[in-house]
Amino acid sequence: MKDISKKIIIGNWKMNLDFKSSISLTKKISQNFSKIKTSHEVVVLPDFLSLSGVSKNLNKKIFYGSQDVSPFSRGAYTGEVSLEALSQIGCKFVLIGHSERRQYFSDDDIISYKMKNVLENSKITPILCVGETWDQKKSNQTLKVINQQIKAALAKIKTLKNKKIIIAYEPVWAIGSGKIVSVEEAVLVHQEIKKIINKMFKDKLPLDLRVIYGGSVNLSNFIEFKNQPDISGFLIGGASLKASDFVKIINKF
Ligand code: PGA
Repeated sequence: MKDISKKIIIGNWKMNLDFKSSISLTKKISQNFSKIKTSHEVVVLPDFLSLSGVSKNLNKKIFYGSQDVSPFSRGAYTGEVSLEALSQIGCKFVLIGHSERRQYFSDDDIISYKMKNVLENSKITPILCVGETWDQKKSNQTLKVINQQIKAALAKIKTLKNKKIIIAYEPVWAIGSGKIVSVEEAVLVHQEIKKIINKMFKDKLPLDLRVIYGGSVNLSNFIEFKNQPDISGFLIGGASLKASDFVKIINKF
């Protein structure tokens, strides 16, 4: 399996910012970013409404994407945002199956349709989130849960040949909690994710897979994950809202 070596750091702004503060953060990140040299890919994920404004103010070396996408392509689906609309606005990435969407918006059952839509109908790279709850971790269910979530999310995909995909391992208990998984555990899960994908699609490679970690990554803990070849980057929530912290993490990772 080809696992591309380019690291990727993604800022998930969630619904923490309004339009004005999204533009202001975009400008700050862009100013800071122009001072540094990095070969990593950098992505920000604003809310849908801010995407267009962010795209106009963002340093051209930084990519942007959305936090979700409709499973449908077009039609009478009030409140949805289509893949085509995101493509036209220049999104190169889309987050799918974040635990907050699974928890508050019952996304579990539609994740496979969203993955199919993105992988079959666009060049946008899906970032699929998976992760166990604290109770599941305590009862040693982590690998079982990861396995189930990946299999369910990719159940409608026949091949990943020539596709790009990112899987973000985000333990639910680590998100926004200040708690972080140990490097050993993270590496084990990252390796397991690659094994699962390899097994599911063994006849249909090559594929462009990166597995990244998310959950309370910040300026004081990210360095532990450096030099771990299985960990290709981060999905960062809270710490991505502070331009200087976000850029320092990118710079030093
Ligand atoms: P956090 O969020 O870095 O604030 O824990 C990560 C995420 O939910 O993607």
